Amino acid sequence: MRWIGSAFLFFFTIAAAFAQDYPAKPVVIIVPAAAGGPTDTLTRVLAQQMGEALRQQMIIENVGGAGGTIGINRAAKARNDGYTLLLYHIGMATSPALYRKLPYDTLNDFDYIGQVADVPMMLIAKKTLPANSFAEFLPYAKANKDKLTYANAGLGSASYLCGILFMSAVDASFTMVPYKGTGPAMNDLVGGQVDFMCDQTTNTVPQIKSGNVKAYGVTTPARLASMPDLPTLNEQGLKGFDLVVWNGLFAPKGLPRPALEKLVAALQTAVQAPAFRARLADLGAEPVPLAKANPGSLGTLLKAEVEKWGPIIRKTGVFAD
Ligand code: MLT
Repeated sequence: MRWIGSAFLFFFTIAAAFAQDYPAKPVVIIVPAAAGGPTDTLTRVLAQQMGEALRQQMIIENVGGAGGTIGINRAAKARNDGYTLLLYHIGMATSPALYRKLPYDTLNDFDYIGQVADVPMMLIAKKTLPANSFAEFLPYAKANKDKLTYANAGLGSASYLCGILFMSAVDASFTMVPYKGTGPAMNDLVGGQVDFMCDQTTNTVPQIKSGNVKAYGVTTPARLASMPDLPTLNEQGLKGFDLVVWNGLFAPKGLPRPALEKLVAALQTAVQAPAFRARLADLGAEPVPLAKANPGSLGTLLKAEVEKWGPIIRKTGVFAD
């Protein structure tokens, strides 16, 4: 019987030591999209703040492709020891409908840490496209729909979702050109290799401000404080067009409680940090309020979004596999 007591003491000591030491080494955040894109940008700003709060380095690992499902799967299969996390977005909710054979279970393979930020999207085009407003773009696009190319980050990505919503709203389809993320897609758009794209403000605002691309509209019901002169798609005739990219921080299921608690606390510190809020505001993004930076809120959101987008996507009849 005495050995049971000492075994209990042994495990208690280990757990206490883990709780105290975590994180004892750098924490990796998997970004299921190429470097230089909107999710990468957001994660780097967050990693800076959370790293300070945890007094530990946070390293970004970009695993792009297949609309993010390759990176998501990498995170789902990673050790649940608190040293591998995942930052992704609305794509978590759309891929279950697009991929009938997903190698992971979206609603059961992850622990939730919390929501991070909401990022509006913008419809943009290469600067040589002969249309200087949405009113000019729409008839031009419809007249050239067989020739126009639409860049995106693949089935399951936010830019893909915006693309199919836009195409059904204007009743025209364009040639989809998939990339490992909208970072490389933006390079080709700026270079004029592709014609237009719908992407998150964290990637579009700097390019619009430098005059590298044209902007036609915002996907939110209201205009953005960071770009008050840019009208919404809704006010330009696409009634009810409303798409914002929510972002959340996840971990492989079964995270030790002490690690989860420290990560939630660090996330909450980060979303309240003035530097974090100012940087996101510059990029037209909205950090979540404290009340959303927790596991329960992200879990509820993901479940609701999987239920919301499933029927909409299945109606398009497009599947990745
Ligand atoms: C990215 O960071 O490349 C984007 O999040 C991709 C997308 O979902 O459109």
